[in-house]
Amino acid sequence: MRQERATEGGRRMKVLVVGSGGREHALCWAIAGSPLLTALYCAPGNAGIAAEARCVPIAADDIDALVHFALKERIDFVVVGPEGPLVLGLVDRLGAVGIKAFGPNAAAARLEGSKAFTKDFCTRHGIPTAAYGRFTDADAAKSYVRAHGAPIVVKADGLAAGKGVIIAERVADAEAAIDAMLRDGAFGAAGAEIVVEEFLAGEEASFFALCDGTTALPFGTAQDHKRVGDGDTGPNTGGMGAYSPAPIVTDAIAATVMERIVRPTLAGMRAEGAPFAGVLYCGLMLTSKGPQLLEYNVRFGDPECQVLMPRLKSDVLPALIAAADGVLNAFDVRWHDAAALCVVMAARGYPGAYAKNTEIRGLDATRDADDLWVFHAGTVREGDRVVATGGRVLGVTALAPGFAAAQARAYAAVDRIDWPDGFCRRDIGWRVLARART
Ligand code: AMP
Ligand code: GLY
Repeated sequence: MRQERATEGGRRMKVLVVGSGGREHALCWAIAGSPLLTALYCAPGNAGIAAEARCVPIAADDIDALVHFALKERIDFVVVGPEGPLVLGLVDRLGAVGIKAFGPNAAAARLEGSKAFTKDFCTRHGIPTAAYGRFTDADAAKSYVRAHGAPIVVKADGLAAGKGVIIAERVADAEAAIDAMLRDGAFGAAGAEIVVEEFLAGEEASFFALCDGTTALPFGTAQDHKRVGDGDTGPNTGGMGAYSPAPIVTDAIAATVMERIVRPTLAGMRAEGAPFAGVLYCGLMLTSKGPQLLEYNVRFGDPECQVLMPRLKSDVLPALIAAADGVLNAFDVRWHDAAALCVVMAARGYPGAYAKNTEIRGLDATRDADDLWVFHAGTVREGDRVVATGGRVLGVTALAPGFAAAQARAYAAVDRIDWPDGFCRRDIGWRVLARART
């Protein structure tokens, strides 16, 4: 399926994407097709991204070096993929030297950077979320747990690479998590304060909105597969696969999310002097009482971005620029009426310890298929070999008229990739396919 491309208006520009994951590969692929582009760079990128962009060896959180590079290369627009540099203030620093960027400034990135800030913010603005307490004292946190009973959820306040959330089935487990965070410093400074919150039952979904500080434009839905094993078993990961759209987010639910969560968030951040621009990713629990906010992320999800970009019919670059320019109110985007599904291939052992520098073969066998993308996350090229260097290594994404066909196409490609040291879940999409059968 083809993407529509902007043809009129707009100066042609040099763009820098920051990050090195499957999310950034998907963004680079989408941006690379824009006629507005003269040159695309990615810092630091990876072996797959190198096919779309010039990779620059600067780490995503090396703010000084990124700003220096952007000035030196006269970059017109920077697209920041991961949360780390956003929380560190990359967008503020670029703005200070006159370089436009997609993503929130540090003050607005607190929506992801601090769970305690987020929970208090939701209370101030009436945004539906689980009941909670904030604690720095372990005894006080334990009293709260005993008063509320299990199941209950214990969260480190700061960024903990997706590992700072403990769903405790028993009071004793919650107490152990409290001690690990507050007494033993299991998450360092990120766990010096914790949030203890009510367990919400329901189905999870991700809702994306492009935001320009004032206006929010719905930008797709997805569902992720967080557990490492088939049937949603085993430890949590950064995400083993995803699909988009999420049919469980009906038009009515999407309207509720916009009205009760996304718009109050934008209005609240503006009222508090920290207007939010970028992509707001609402992690939702769809409960019997309606959608509740589990968390905000202030960037695209990964692998969710890998299923959003292939579905986008409109040129992505003008949309990202409109968010940075504050002109989303005059903007609309169009989507393919199709299903996208992404299977993540990870290094054996992930999310625990895993082998590095194992060779991946067979990538060429997937190259010519239509509506199929092998997005790279943790790869480097060594001569003519591609080797795995990360935990999550590839995102094999297919687009098809329906989910069953997208799933079949993605796994057919997975099976052509020759990587004995890798593995994937074999059931990505099970929920949406089960729903279609009932
Ligand atoms: P978070 O990083 O806050 O999104 O939490 C990570 C995961 O923990 C979520 O994707 C949910 O699966 C789960 N989770 C977080 N908070 C809750 C809650 N209050 N009730 C049930 N599950 C939760
Ligand atoms: N896939 C979950 C995330 O990007 O946070």
